[in-house]
Amino acid sequence: MPFRPRYTGLIDKYRDRLPVHDDTRIISLGEGNTPLIRLHNIPSKLSKDVEIYVKYEGLNPTGSFKDRGMTMAVTKAVEEGSKAIICASTGNTSAAAAAYAARAGITAFVLIPDGKIALGKLAQAMMHGAVVIQIKGNFDAGMQLVKEVAKEAPVTIVNSINPYRLQGQKTAAFEIVEELGRAPDFHCLPVGNAGNITAHWIGYCEYSSASGEMVTGACAYCEGHCKFAGGAIVGNRPRMLGYQAAGSAPFMRGEMVDDPETVATAIRIGHPQSWDMAWKVKEESGGWFDECTDDEILAAQKLLAESEGVFCEPASATSLAGALKDIESGKIPQGSSIVCTLTGHGLKDPDTAIKQSSAPLTTVEAELSAVKAAILENMAD
Ligand code: F0G
Repeated sequence: MPFRPRYTGLIDKYRDRLPVHDDTRIISLGEGNTPLIRLHNIPSKLSKDVEIYVKYEGLNPTGSFKDRGMTMAVTKAVEEGSKAIICASTGNTSAAAAAYAARAGITAFVLIPDGKIALGKLAQAMMHGAVVIQIKGNFDAGMQLVKEVAKEAPVTIVNSINPYRLQGQKTAAFEIVEELGRAPDFHCLPVGNAGNITAHWIGYCEYSSASGEMVTGACAYCEGHCKFAGGAIVGNRPRMLGYQAAGSAPFMRGEMVDDPETVATAIRIGHPQSWDMAWKVKEESGGWFDECTDDEILAAQKLLAESEGVFCEPASATSLAGALKDIESGKIPQGSSIVCTLTGHGLKDPDTAIKQSSAPLTTVEAELSAVKAAILENMAD
């Protein structure tokens, strides 16, 4: 059998583009290298001819894109001598922080909104041995507290205000360009704190740099943290489309929202930390923000699961919900190639999935005749 080197995570793969040294101890769980799946059944039902791909970030080690940022943030925290990390979280960041801290042998403190995170995420943080602090307030309040605590205690913040987080997350754009041979025309993302949309833009900019669009030696977003390789691989960059849940859509309102509410708890954020950067991404890429109702988000989640076999969490489906609206309205034109990031796995939030599932649960006697009858009843014509 031909020898194929073992995949050992995104820092090893993109070492020359990330702020690590040859002797840096890498804290990795093999994150990145996620599938880019071309959708067939959903596009075939649309009135326009478009190519849609989903980048299934739910297949990262802890089930979300946060692992890309966390491998970098924890690697650097350990390198700098930190013994503890801290974050506020709607769930996924806390799961990733807990896992990478366990791997590194340091402590994770996570602040989560009491009763407002999906059960799978809570289970992860607890199992990995994080110190879980539930606060009687939302993510935005937690974020404020984390910033204050970090001023007084020797803990490293691993929310996306930590610049290494975005460095790790930019690698998702690298992977997409490498697989498609070019950037897509549109890249759709759910937006909460707006760190991920910014990180993707950094990644696309680095790839397109020698096309003349960016001429400086470092991008404007990362305060010199990226090692700018400068080699041209593609000449195009996508338009970045950021979709928010309607009850939690500060970018649509043009101002912060004090009481965000949505079934997509991962993006229940009213005071995005990367506010200025995300506006810049929108302007530079020629993209836009839009919002989706909770019903639209859940319908897209179900459509994807039922007709393509891909299960993502509600927040993740916001990217597809938004894309489908914009394809039908013509804002995304015929012939476009589109990538939607599916940020987290559907198993993170089983409660919401079961609540909205239409599949009938049938219970019968454990007898052949009863099982046969149940099958016949549900057989498609
Ligand atoms: N999708 C999922 C599944 C998320 O968990 C998040 C953010 C986002 C999208 C939005 O990404 O904040 O970079 O715009 N979750 C954070 C958390 C806030 O604490 O897990 P963003």
